[in-house]
Amino acid sequence: ELSPEEAAFQARIDGNIKIEPKDWMPAAYRKTLIRQIGQHAHSEIVGQLPEGNWVTRAPTLERKAILLAKVQDEAGHGLYLYCAAETLGISRDELMNKLHSGEMKYSSIFNYPTLTWADMGAVGWLVDGAAIMNQVPLQRTSFGPYARAMVRICKEESFHQRQGYSIMMSMVSGTPAQKEMAQDALNRFWYPALMMFGPSDKDSVHSDQSMAWKIKMNTNDELRQRFVNETVPQAHYLGLTIPDDDLVWNEETGNYDFSQPDWEEFKAVLKGNGPCNRERLGARIKAWEGGEWFRDGLAAYAEKAAKRRVA
Ligand code: 3HC
Repeated sequence: ELSPEEAAFQARIDGNIKIEPKDWMPAAYRKTLIRQIGQHAHSEIVGQLPEGNWVTRAPTLERKAILLAKVQDEAGHGLYLYCAAETLGISRDELMNKLHSGEMKYSSIFNYPTLTWADMGAVGWLVDGAAIMNQVPLQRTSFGPYARAMVRICKEESFHQRQGYSIMMSMVSGTPAQKEMAQDALNRFWYPALMMFGPSDKDSVHSDQSMAWKIKMNTNDELRQRFVNETVPQAHYLGLTIPDDDLVWNEETGNYDFSQPDWEEFKAVLKGNGPCNRERLGARIKAWEGGEWFRDGLAAYAEKAAKRRVA
């Protein structure tokens, strides 16, 4: 039975009226938003690492500049999302501590290594492609600051995906070795990209409530299916093969039937046992600790400036 506030709150959600930070909201709505927005922000920041690895190894100055711009964009995406999470009453330090202690997650995809330059293509094309599939609907999510952050992020994501696809196009029209490198990148990133949409709907613990509160606008399987339907023709255009022998167009449903990722692998990566979990979290902790002097300096300066203004 809903209390009067809960009933009024749900009526606003059902009426597509944005919930703003100062509005009354159920504690559980606040809690699950901090969880999702905070982990989304962590994903953006940790997501800089696999690509950062290739900034100094890019094959041309132009590719280096493009990759640098993308990695810098991701930092900005993290900033918008941390700011959105902070409007719910959690501090940046608390969010960072929860990431470093393992209490909060980041997207599983970033626990896979980027071994060749073609991986920069596969990451832009598939990882940012999946992120777009998941983030476009979130522009209509019920929490105002989150929806508005998504509008800006989605604009930049389309550039991220285009530059990845353009790398893949160069590779497949290059030497046989370059085409093979592109195929190898697709082979290694296809299933981890499918995992980005979360577990199957039957195993999703948050979906029902998140859909009722319009925190989630589509289910995990819906968006995964949309991603497959859109990406298979792109792979065909590249002359690359999706590493799934059971992938087939289903005329009846108007969807591709495809093989599920290995959910045991997914669970292992979420538990911290993916190929790069320790390295990624280690890099973030090192960066955070290494930047403490800088944060302290900024805080001391801000304090002094505030005193001067008062005096
Ligand atoms: N990686 C890590 N954790 C995952 C995951 C993944 N791929 N998929 C699901 N999970 C976690 C969930 O966080 C939840 O754990 P928690 O309770 O500790 O948070 C658990 O698995 C159960 O999954 P649910 O489906 O019940 O959870 P959600 O309803 O939160 O759905 C989600 C998961 C679809 C990722 C949803 O949280 C979401 O849409 N988040 C916002 C978008 C986002 O974070 N995308 C990640 C990539 S961002 C990115 O790629 C940056 C781009 O610039 C490259």
